[in-house]
Amino acid sequence: MHRSGVMIKVTIDNIEVEVEPGTTILNAARQIGGEVVPPAMCYYSKLPGTGGKCRTCLVEVAAGSTADPRPMPKLVASCSTNVMDGMIVKNKTSEKVHENRGGVVEFLLANHPLDCPVCDQAGECHLQD
Ligand code: FES
Repeated sequence: MHRSGVMIKVTIDNIEVEVEPGTTILNAARQIGGEVVPPAMCYYSKLPGTGGKCRTCLVEVAAGSTADPRPMPKLVASCSTNVMDGMIVKNKTSEKVHENRGGVVEFLLANHPLDCPVCDQAGECHLQD
């Protein structure tokens, strides 16, 4: 991977990772991989302008940055929030995220037609899982 300039340090579920400036929390989590990665249903990395809608990817920001270490009052969409240097994020270690995500997935299932064969996401859909 191409790396240039200053890297940003972010901690997700107690695991530290260094990423390029402008990386979203979701993509930073994907660099770590495994259980740290929030589910993302409306964000499709190959398409510009996706994400920010389904709210399954919400995470807790326990500290915003080194410069401003206050926690963010609300859960944020990891697919459309960029990391800041010194940010501390909680996904699987956050109670709030778990409670919230259960509700969102139930809502989506209740309102979602299960037309998987016609959907682009078939095969890489977290809802299907
Ligand atoms: S993946 Fe849908 S809001 Fe982030």
